[in-house]
Amino acid sequence: MKTSLVALSMALAAPSAAAFSITLHSKLATTSLHAATLDAPIREAPGAGWEPDWEDRPGLAPEEFMQSDMTKPDLSGMWECPLTRWSSDNVDIVEAQKEAAKMPHCPLEMRASAADNAMGAEYFAKNKQQIKADLLKYGAIWFRGFDLMKSVKGHREMYEALELEPCLDPLHSSGLRKFASERDALYEEVNKPSLRGHYIGLHCESTTKRTAAYAAFVCFQKATEGGGRFLVADGAAILAELDTKLLQKLYDRKIRISVSNLDLPPSLPGFVKEGVKGLVDAAVAPKFDMDLEMMFEADGKAGRLQAVEIAESPINRHPVTGLPVWFNNAHNHARKLRDRRPCGVPEVGMTEVFYADTMEPLSLEDCMEIKRASEKHITALSMEPGDVLLVDNYRALHGRDVFQGDRFHAVTWFTWDDNEEWRGDERRMVEKNGLNKAINKMMDWLPKDFESQQS
Ligand SMILES: [Fe+2]
Repeated sequence: MKTSLVALSMALAAPSAAAFSITLHSKLATTSLHAATLDAPIREAPGAGWEPDWEDRPGLAPEEFMQSDMTKPDLSGMWECPLTRWSSDNVDIVEAQKEAAKMPHCPLEMRASAADNAMGAEYFAKNKQQIKADLLKYGAIWFRGFDLMKSVKGHREMYEALELEPCLDPLHSSGLRKFASERDALYEEVNKPSLRGHYIGLHCESTTKRTAAYAAFVCFQKATEGGGRFLVADGAAILAELDTKLLQKLYDRKIRISVSNLDLPPSLPGFVKEGVKGLVDAAVAPKFDMDLEMMFEADGKAGRLQAVEIAESPINRHPVTGLPVWFNNAHNHARKLRDRRPCGVPEVGMTEVFYADTMEPLSLEDCMEIKRASEKHITALSMEPGDVLLVDNYRALHGRDVFQGDRFHAVTWFTWDDNEEWRGDERRMVEKNGLNKAINKMMDWLPKDFESQQS
């Protein structure tokens, strides 16, 4: 076998981290896959401003909660995730902070009474207008103790009663997002045992290119041995909290986010490195439906190829209210924060946040201010079976704490229910899905392609 055997395999490193990883298996590459350092920083559990108590409410058994209502239509031909609506020009930072500071605490808690529970889905149909108005005002609503949403079937009844329109995950085209129930437009959250020790920092379900309008996160089974709080924080509150100078700096310089690292041996000839870059650019990046640029050694590591999103503003105005909010994934993606908290992502899936103008990684000082301001406004929810967090994805950010044991949370994304023109006319196509499933086949031809470039 030639030493040029290269197999690119792709795996979702942290689904909600909007990241993908590329693993290089090669005799040439065995020396440089891990960047262990001698002076690794201490890892500490991140903080949270609010931590509601657990109530130990019972749920259903998996065979019960997973049941779909087969009398309802299959929703797998749902809407495409809509394009991100950017409005970030000419933001007056001081004014924006003043406006953002006026917002009420997020999330609003709506606790089910016995009468509410007796109404079932009718509760949501009847209160639809008020719920949507509250979502706009508070950024997120925690529906607590509702029997209806203890199952896949009831969760769907809830969002249908609210007349929300399900859509694909922003990274659906990668083929790597797993459905909990495809016919009910329900994705699994990051429940995988291999990632239970990984803290998922605050993020919007968004790439520079695509952003879901709303989300409904549902708990069917809380972590059996502890942990797993679901995190939510108001992007308006974080904007108001952040040091004004830092905010101005990030707004002026913009940010770029790298979502994957491919470590090639620095000694590889330049044309080989360029060949790999070309392959990844042509064959892998398009699967992710993101505007990615392949860049060598952006974070200073020799031989490292990174997939980097285009420049974006860290602040965006809410499409409906016009309120400027902190709208970016830096708290989740900044390397210096990941290195200082529980992180289970392999080096290939490690992300980084750069100042867009110079492509320098964010400084430790700036990262720590983002951490302080973000975590002060996190509510670490004690979600239990039947609880749903309805999120305005252009306003509130979400994440998840580490957990022990098994857990089953799921999520449905929604496109615009009003403002039809923002929804676009794209629906999920069967052929597209077929292509996604063919990703694994790519590994079959990739080595051949690579070898032909060597000869
Ligand atoms: Fe997420």
